[in-house]
Amino acid sequence: MATGCDVKNEGKASVTTVHLKDPVYNIKVDLKYRAYNDVDMIEAWTEILNGEKGTVTLTTFASAMLPIRRGDVWMSHLSGTWAAEGQLSHEKLQPGEFVIRNNDGTRNSHTDHAEVMFSLDGKGQENAGNVIGAALVYSGNYKLKTVTDDTEYHYFFAGINEQNSEYHLKKGETFKTPALALTYSTQGLSGASRNFHKWGRKYILAHGDKERDILLNSWEGVYFDINQKGMDQMMADIHSMDGELFVMDDGWFGTKYPRVTDNCALGDWVVDTKKLPNGIEGLLNDARKNQVKFGIWIEPEMTNTTSMLYEKHPDWVIKAPKRDAVLGRGGTQLVLDLSNPKVQDFVFGVVDNLLTKYPDIAYIKWDANMAIMNHGSQYLSAADQSHLYIAYHQGFAKVIDRIRAKYKDVVIQCCASGGGRANWGMLRGFDEFWVSDNTDAMQRIYMQYGTSYFFPAIAMASHISAVPNHTVFRTTSLKYRIDVAMSGRLGMEIQPKNMTDEEKALCRKAISEYKEIRPVVQFGDLYRLVSPYEGNHMALNYVSKDTNKAVLFAYDIHPRFQEKLLAVKLQGLDPNKQYKVEEINLMPAASSGLAANGKVYSGDYLMKVGLDVFGLGQTQSRVIELTAQ
Ligand code: DGJ
Repeated sequence: MATGCDVKNEGKASVTTVHLKDPVYNIKVDLKYRAYNDVDMIEAWTEILNGEKGTVTLTTFASAMLPIRRGDVWMSHLSGTWAAEGQLSHEKLQPGEFVIRNNDGTRNSHTDHAEVMFSLDGKGQENAGNVIGAALVYSGNYKLKTVTDDTEYHYFFAGINEQNSEYHLKKGETFKTPALALTYSTQGLSGASRNFHKWGRKYILAHGDKERDILLNSWEGVYFDINQKGMDQMMADIHSMDGELFVMDDGWFGTKYPRVTDNCALGDWVVDTKKLPNGIEGLLNDARKNQVKFGIWIEPEMTNTTSMLYEKHPDWVIKAPKRDAVLGRGGTQLVLDLSNPKVQDFVFGVVDNLLTKYPDIAYIKWDANMAIMNHGSQYLSAADQSHLYIAYHQGFAKVIDRIRAKYKDVVIQCCASGGGRANWGMLRGFDEFWVSDNTDAMQRIYMQYGTSYFFPAIAMASHISAVPNHTVFRTTSLKYRIDVAMSGRLGMEIQPKNMTDEEKALCRKAISEYKEIRPVVQFGDLYRLVSPYEGNHMALNYVSKDTNKAVLFAYDIHPRFQEKLLAVKLQGLDPNKQYKVEEINLMPAASSGLAANGKVYSGDYLMKVGLDVFGLGQTQSRVIELTAQ
C-alpha cells in the first residue's frame, strides 16, 4: 500500500519517490523516478528495504513496470551474435509474453540488447509517430518482458534477470535496482534515439561533450606481433595521415608467459621486454616523437591458467567448487571474481599502476573476452552463491567509479569481443564502445544502423580496415570503408605499411574532411532516412544544433538493375535556410556525379523533394555536406 510521496530536486532533475509498504510484513518499497529537465528522460528504479527481523530472499526484482495502452503497438529491438551485433527487428505485440534476456554474466549485448522501443501507432516510422524508448542501465544479466493478457494494457517489465540470482537481503539492508531509462517522442523512432543520444552524452558517457580523437588501433594490423619498431612505424603512419592517437592492442605483456598468442598472461600486466625492450616509456617516447597520443589495451577482469597471477591466486577465479573449470579463449582463459574486494583492488590496480607510472597514457581499450561459464564464487559464502552475477557487477561498478574518481581525463573504450558491452549500464565512466569485431563495411551498415537506435555516433567506434575483410573476406573499396567508418567515431584498424601511397593519401584527405564534419557527427542530431533492413540502400543525416550544418551519408548496398530509386528527403534542417550541397570524400581526380553538387537549396526543398543520391552501384556511397549560406 502507498504510504506517501515526495519530490526532491537534484541538480537538473527532480526525484519523485512513491513510498509503498507491505500491509503484512515490514518490507518497504520506494519507487523512484528521476526526471531531467534538460533532456527527455526519466530514470525509474526501485529500492527495497528489509525491516523484518531476519533475512528476506528476493526472487523477482524488476526496476520498473510500464503499462502501455493496448493497441497496434510494435516493439523494436536488437539481437545478434559475435561479429553480427546490433541487428534490428520490429514485431507487433501479440497476446502472450515476449521475453528478452541475457545470461552471459560479464557481457550483455552480443546477442540481445537491454533496450527497446515501442511504437504506439502501428509499425514504427523513423520520423513520425509516438514512440516510447526504454533502456535498462545495467551491466549485468537482464530480463525485459512484455505481457499482453486479457486486460486493456501491454505490460512492460525490465530489470535484473533473476535466473540464478536470488538475493538474500539482510535485516535493515536496502536493495537498489538498476535504473530503467524511459523516453517518449512524437517524432518517431529517430526522435526517441535522439533523446537517448542527448541523455547518454550528457549523463552517462565520460567526456560526452568532447570530440573524439581519430585513432589507429593495432589489432587487425599486426595482431599479437607487437614490437617497438612496428609500433613506431604505425605511430608515424597515423601521424602522416593526420590522425591523433595510436592504440597498442593485445600482445604487449607477459614475462614468464609472453603473450604471443591468446592462451596466456592475462593478469601479468608487465611489459614483455623481448618485444618492447624500452618498455612503455619507449612507446611514449615514440608517440611524442610522432606527435600522436598513446593508448594501450588491457583485459583486467580476466586471467589464464598459464599466468603468474593464476599461479599465485587460483582462489581469485570464478569457478564451481569440486568441478573442473570450463576454460575460455585459448583453452586457458578464466574470469576473475569481482565479488571479491581483493580482486576489485587488483583490477583497479591494473589501471592505477599504468596511469601512475605513465601519466601520458591517453587512452585505454578495456576488453572482456569471456562469459561466466563456471558459476561459483570462491569468495562468497555457500549460502550466497546466488549473489555472484549481481555482486560481480556491483564490484565492476565500484572499480570503474574508483578509476574515474582518480583519472578524470583518460579516455576508456568499452570492448568485449567486439560489441559485447554496448549497454548504458556498462558505459558509465567509459567514453565509447567497440561496435563489433566485424569491420566489413557492408555488414557494419546494418550493425551501426541498429546500434544507432540507442547509442550516439560519438560512442560508436568504427574503423577503416583492410580487404579482404578479416572476418567475412569481402572486398569493398577504400572509399566505401571510409564512408561507413566516417558515420561514427572514425578510426583505423589496418597495417598502414601495406597501404599504397594513393590509399594513404585518400585516408589523409578523409581524416581532414572528417575533422570538418566531426562536430556534426559527434554532437549533432541523428535522423535515419532509409533503412538497410527494408531495401538495398541506407541513408541517414546528422544536423548541428544551430541547423547550420548537416551531413548526409548514403550507401548503395546491393542495388538491382533497373531498380526505381527514390530521392532521399533530408530531415531536421531549417526549412527557411538555404544550404549549399557539397559532396566530400571524393576519390582524387573524381568529380561528383551528384546533380545537386555545388548548388544551393532551401531546407524546405531538401526535406520535401530531397536529393538523388543512390544508384552508384554495388557497395558505393556518398558523403554530402550541407552548409547554411
Ligand atoms: C577482442 C577485441 O574485440 C579485439 O578488438 C581485440 O582487442 C582482441 N580482443 C584482442 O585480443
